[in-house]
Parts: sequence; structure tokens; C-alpha cells
Amino acid sequence: MKTNLFDFKHKTIVITGGSTGIGRATAVAFAQHGANIVIGDINEAAASETIELIKREGVEALFVKTDVSHTADVKALIDKAVSTFGRLDCAFNNAGIAHSLRPIEALEEDDFDRVVAVDLKGIFLCMKYELQHMLKVKGGAIVNTASVAGLVPEAGLGGYVAAKHGVIGLTKTAAIEHAHLGIRVNALAPGWVRTPMTKGWDEHKGLNAHLRAATPMHRGAEPEEMAGMVLFLCSEAASYVTGQTYAVEGGQMVRGLLPITIGPEPGRI
Ligand SMILES: NC(=O)c1ccc[n+]([C@@H]2O[C@H](COP(=O)([O-])OP(=O)(O)OC[C@H]3O[C@@H](n4cnc5c(N)ncnc54)[C@H](O)[C@@H]3O)[C@@H](O)[C@H]2O)c1
Repeated sequence: MKTNLFDFKHKTIVITGGSTGIGRATAVAFAQHGANIVIGDINEAAASETIELIKREGVEALFVKTDVSHTADVKALIDKAVSTFGRLDCAFNNAGIAHSLRPIEALEEDDFDRVVAVDLKGIFLCMKYELQHMLKVKGGAIVNTASVAGLVPEAGLGGYVAAKHGVIGLTKTAAIEHAHLGIRVNALAPGWVRTPMTKGWDEHKGLNAHLRAATPMHRGAEPEEMAGMVLFLCSEAASYVTGQTYAVEGGQMVRGLLPITIGPEPGRI
């Protein structure tokens, strides 16, 4: 057994959606444990801030502009990580978007298609190319970002709920396909995290109050509070853990989510 279970020195980690929020906080945490980081994201401006924060920790960082819903972009991201650092040890497939808070009969088809393309197909494409590399070296760990909305439904979020349930299904499938090959695949299910994605919720009448009431800790998480679980799942400490989904949600799932009321003027989330 290794003495430092959380040693990521000289390891290479690919993080999608690493320009802001949970992805950025996790990238910095991995850097603090010695890993070199490759960020794949569509937001180039924010990525440069993340890259600077990572480099302050004395490790290497690289940004590859990537839309995770595009095959060529994802393949180029993984190829670049491997050609630059000579290895790919872990991946945090975390890029994601939400959609307007609407009941299914009012949800635009384009919004449904986009959220499935980014949140679900994006995870499939990332795992496809990551696994092709990890199989060659017979090792690796992958963490996919799902959501508590991947475990239980939330009214008004049909496309997002479907995509995140799909992420958990893909995670379990990838786990059993590769468990005997030295590759572990798990999922993170965040509750309410204070990131750019949820920033607008502060202005949406009632939504923050709803979330506070639904969360036994009565607050949203800071993005840094997601990083520990991702590092754990990628680390030697989790060497016998695969196919699992870990909810990091201030107790929401213990009591059960409270239903959002969809009013006559649905707000955007
Ligand atoms: N914030 C929450 O409360 C919460 C709760 C549950 C799950 N999540 C999930 O956590 C993940 C991270 O979200 P966050 O809260 O940090 O929000 P965020 O908006 O800060 O981060 C999302 C990142 O994904 C990137 N992105 C969006 N579309 C992309 C695409 N097509 N290709 C590549 N990158 C893309 C964005 O540029 C951004 O950097 C998402 O998958 C989200 O669904 C968030």
C-alpha cells in the first residue's frame, strides 16, 4: 500500500468544463497534489485564469479549446494530453449545461437536444477516447459529473434529468466493462453548488429559498467542496471503488428533494 494515497505527482489529468466552477476548483486541487492538468472547455477567456491558478501550484497546465459534443474536438483533446505529457492517468468529465425550467410540454426541442448533446453525448465521447488510451496502458480512473438530478427527478428539468440519469447509466456500464482491466469509472452527483451555472438562481424569485429549504445544511456548496470527492475517486484510496455514484449535496438526498413549483412565468436556470 502506498504511503501517500493522494499523490498525483507527474500524473496527467484531463478535466472538461475546467474553465469555471467545479471543474476549475477541482483542477486547482489536483495541481496542489502534484498533477499536470489539461483543461478542455469552450470558454477560452476563463480558461486562461484557471491555467494561471494551476501554474501557481508549480505544475504544468494546458488548455485545449473543446466542445465536448463534437467528436473531433474530444479526440484532439485526448491526443494533445497524451502527446504533451506522454500519459493520461485520470479524467474528470465534468462539462455541462442546464436548460430553461419548463414542464416537458413546454420544453423546446432544441434545448432538449443541446443538453443531451453536451451533458450525455459529451460524457460518452470523452470516455470513448479516454478509454482507448487507458486500455493501451491498462490503467486509469474516470469520474463523470452527474447530479442529484441523475438520481431523482426534478420538475421542470426533464432534459437535464434525462441526460444526468444517462450519465449514471453510462458510468455503470463503463465500470463493468473495464473493472478487470485496471480502469475504474465513477460518478459525482453534486447538489446545489454556487458556480456560474447557478448564479442566475439568486435572482430567480423563490428558487434559492426552495434550495435552502431542500438542503439540510441550508446553503449551497462552494465548488471547492466537490473537489475532495473527485480526488478521492481518482486516487489510490479508491482502488476498490468502481461503478458508484457519490452524492455530495449537504444532505438533500437523505430527506428527499422538495419539488420545485413551476409557476406561470418559468424562470431560466
Ligand atoms: N452547480 C450546481 O449546482 C450543479 C449541480 C449538479 C450538477 N452540476 C454539474 O456540474 C458540472 C459543472 O457545472 P458548474 O456548476 O461548475 O457550472 P459552470 O458553468 O461553472 O461550469 C461548466 C463548464 O462547462 C463548460 N462547458 C459548457 N458547455 C461546454 C461544451 N459544450 N464543451 C466544453 N465545455 C463546456 C463551461 O464553459 C464551464 O466552464 C456540470 O456538468 C453540471 O451539470 C452542477
